[in-house]
Amino acid sequence: MDNSLKNIISSGLASLSGIFASDKATKSVLGIDIGSSAIKVVQLKKSNGKAVLETYGAIALGPYGNMEIGEVVNLQVDDVVKALLDVMKESNVTIRSGVIAIPSSSSLIFTLSLPDKISEDKLASIIPNESRKYIPVPISEVTLDWFVLPKENESSEDNIMNKPMIAKVEPKTEVLVVAIHNDVLSRFQEILTKTELHSDSFEMEIFSNIRSSFSHDLAPVLLMDFGASKTKLSIIEEGVVHVFHVVNRGGADITKNIASSLGISFKEAEKLKRSVGLDLNSNPEVADIVRLSIEYILSDTNSVVFAYQKKYNKNISKVILTGGGSLIKGLTEKASSNFNTEVIYSNPFSKTEAPAFLEPILTVSGPEFSVAIGLALRQLF
Ligand SMILES: Nc1ncnc2c1ncn2[C@@H]1O[C@H](COP(=O)(O)OP(=O)(O)OP(=O)(O)O)[C@@H](O)[C@H]1O
Ligand SMILES: [Mg+2]
Repeated sequence: MDNSLKNIISSGLASLSGIFASDKATKSVLGIDIGSSAIKVVQLKKSNGKAVLETYGAIALGPYGNMEIGEVVNLQVDDVVKALLDVMKESNVTIRSGVIAIPSSSSLIFTLSLPDKISEDKLASIIPNESRKYIPVPISEVTLDWFVLPKENESSEDNIMNKPMIAKVEPKTEVLVVAIHNDVLSRFQEILTKTELHSDSFEMEIFSNIRSSFSHDLAPVLLMDFGASKTKLSIIEEGVVHVFHVVNRGGADITKNIASSLGISFKEAEKLKRSVGLDLNSNPEVADIVRLSIEYILSDTNSVVFAYQKKYNKNISKVILTGGGSLIKGLTEKASSNFNTEVIYSNPFSKTEAPAFLEPILTVSGPEFSVAIGLALRQLF
């Protein structure tokens, strides 16, 4: 456990430059994303400087807690282990070491504004102290990791979790800090141990997502991860996270709304949600429920984007959608008219070499796997 946290923040922030670095690994690597409704795994191997897709797979967690596919479940460690072993077996994962993602909802992310020119050693003693006011539990109960932001990206000491507004202040050392409760880390460590998986580190899911979803975007981009339980929003400029915010709604809430409005089971509602989405022509009643749920999430997102625009006087140049919930039919059209900008899906498999016949399915599955792919890529480059 001691060195497991060396870099939760990881090279996500350097993700745009790290792509061409060489020879980090020649053996296979595994990315493991344990979401609130499903586990996703991706195994990659480096060959001729490229990431080759060896295998990937997903498994719904609902059935391991006597619930439906797509439902959000809070499982005991042993059930998670069982699901993880099952998905690894079903997808023919051949290796026993990998990196696991820490969900954004299990952490706090904020920036500290510290006096300029502080040495690395000093930072290590100052940061825990300065972080106290942002952390609602004793500092001894959390593990901290941090990243000194590049100078041109100045930010204030606002807690970007709650107040997604960042001011320009100079000259200061701006540090992005991540705090994770030790219980969360112990749980993931226990999962790894019981699965007999070796891991050198963990990574915050947002940084894995950035690595796999971005190309060379410098202008501000809004990354939306529509999960089952939560929608994670981040605004990234020049590869650096400026804003991070979690909306407490996700795809499973949409299904629950359909189920309760129509008086049907979660299972039936899930099917309807996937087949109808926002398409009024196919089923106006369902499409309307979906629309209302989506509008709730978009309206929260608009406040975050607006606050950013106001503070920086900059517009979002693009929106990238990830997460299974973003596959809802009609979402890109709805989102692009809402944001009045280009909206695209993350296409993380495009960073891997895979047989051509798989391309259509990989393009569609991409948003669901972007965290797992990002985790695997981290170990290769
Ligand atoms: N084709 C589809 N149309 C609509 N929704 C879909 C589709 N495919 C998957 N979903 C939804 O995606 C959600 C699962 O997405 P994902 O696997 O990204 O979540 P997760 O990682 O388990 O959740 P979280 O990130 O919140 O912990 C579910 O709510 C599911 O209903
Ligand atoms: Mg997820």
